[in-house]
Amino acid sequence: MNHPASSTGLLGDTAARDYAAKLRRFNAFAAPEIRESIARLGFAPGMRVLDAGCGTGEALGWLSEAVGPDGAVAGIDLATAHVASARDSAPGDALVIQGDLTALPFVQRSFDLVWSVNTFNHLHDPVACIRRVASLLRAGGRVALGQSSLLPDMYFAWDSRLERLTNDAVRQYYRDRYGLDERDLAAVRSLVGMLRDAGLRNVTARTVTIERVSPVSPDDERYLVETLFRDSWGERLRPYLSPDDYEALGRLCDPADAGFALRRPDFHFLQTFTVAVGGISA
Ligand SMILES: C[S@@+](CC[C@H](N)C(=O)[O-])C[C@H]1O[C@@H](n2cnc3c(N)ncnc32)[C@H](O)[C@@H]1O
Repeated sequence: MNHPASSTGLLGDTAARDYAAKLRRFNAFAAPEIRESIARLGFAPGMRVLDAGCGTGEALGWLSEAVGPDGAVAGIDLATAHVASARDSAPGDALVIQGDLTALPFVQRSFDLVWSVNTFNHLHDPVACIRRVASLLRAGGRVALGQSSLLPDMYFAWDSRLERLTNDAVRQYYRDRYGLDERDLAAVRSLVGMLRDAGLRNVTARTVTIERVSPVSPDDERYLVETLFRDSWGERLRPYLSPDDYEALGRLCDPADAGFALRRPDFHFLQTFTVAVGGISA
């Protein structure tokens, strides 16, 4: 695997990198399913929680509600812009720190739960990092790793061929852009294996489905059109699809086109959100 620079994450993260708008759109879109996953963790009032790779901080508010006024929530993220956005949106008593998960600035045994969504797949050595965050846990504490899309996303109920080619093209783009091979992309899906490799116990996993049919809400449309269709696909996929398939995809993704996917009566989107949890001894 080629690392662009030793201080750059597996998927290109640096302190200067900014994809805050994309994170805000994803969290507005997937809020119901993420909040459901948080509720399933069974928080007790007064717990102390760390959001590792908190991004723009939406989960800090949801976690804060879960632990109540006697609890405490902290977030840490590498990116200056994400931290600024998290500080704006987080509840006033949440601590938001700019820092690197590979050099955590917290004292050991200070949290009951570490929550982290779509972040460990950005690290070169996720298992070592799970061990580090687990060392921050008090007796009986847990690490909960969330990941969207462990299964291939399903967008086009009427065209499984174009859907498959689009998923393949996205994977090929990531492999080329970040110098990864197929095995690197597969490894990031292995939340359960990573937690077990890091020595955590009683590992469980639960997947919820993020499912939308037309007509979609404004938040859903914003995420699907701006983040998925325009930023994740768009020009990026041109080299990986035939001209005809690229044009067909472009029409489906274009709100001005008569065949725009989100206005189709058969639009049915499916994505997964998985949370794997492991604990340390009580
Ligand atoms: C895909 S985003 C997820 C953010 C947030 N958890 C969410 O679900 O919206 C990954 C986040 O991890 C952060 N990140 C990547 N590598 C990091 C590292 N080594 N230390 C701290 N944060 C890191 C990025 O800056 C980014 O905000």
